[in-house]
Amino acid sequence: MGYGEPGVLPVVAIFDASGKKELWSWRIPKVLSLLYFFKFSGEVEGINQIQARYETQYGPGDYRPVVALTYWTFRIMVGIGFLMVAVSAYALYLAWRKWPPKWMRPMKWLMLGIALPYLANTSGWLMTESARQPWIVTGLLKTEAGVSPRQPGEVLATLIIYTLLYAALMVVDIYLLVKYAKLGLDAEGKGAAPLSGDDALLAG
Ligand code: HEM
Repeated sequence: MGYGEPGVLPVVAIFDASGKKELWSWRIPKVLSLLYFFKFSGEVEGINQIQARYETQYGPGDYRPVVALTYWTFRIMVGIGFLMVAVSAYALYLAWRKWPPKWMRPMKWLMLGIALPYLANTSGWLMTESARQPWIVTGLLKTEAGVSPRQPGEVLATLIIYTLLYAALMVVDIYLLVKYAKLGLDAEGKGAAPLSGDDALLAG
């Protein structure tokens, strides 16, 4: 399935169980060309067209990435991007209205917003990494050819060591954050008392 000239962006699409045939979609004209070529024209190839071209170019094989993963991680990333813009616009509006108390209640939910950039970043990263499969360098080197000859046990051990190290750092970080948040601001609003010896060492 191609996206024509200029390319339409299917914002939401429903596929059949095989994931290859589109049953329904909500499409915005020209936006896919804008994302791809930075202009409102230009034909964007669909996955099936790329698959056919790659088979001619590089020989038989499955050149399609895991479509559902690419599809949803892109939408999560972009959705969170727009959500963050909306939340910021709401906060600007509140600031302009001099922070009316009755509208401040939803602000406590903003704490959850701390997770949003992390989720968007992880989604964006998952999208690029999964969508370029089966290539590690498109057209030149397949991922399967780039796998280093390490034993799975070695990889697992490294992963466990890194996880433990970062978990320990996280515990120290949360301990310090909670401790100084509880201390609060001093009377002049200048922040908590200076760090004592041990804590100063921990805080680096
Ligand atoms: C309208 C909103 C957004 C659009 C249209 C968009 C578009 C894209 C596109 C097209 C890519 C793939 C780039 C490539 O192929 O190299 C990408 C990757 C990525 N995006 Fe987004 N994005 C949006 C919002 C966000 C937000 C809000 C974040 C994080 C706060 C984010 C984080 C990332 C990351 C980490 C990657 C992976 C980069 C890489 O590994 O090279 N994106 N985005």
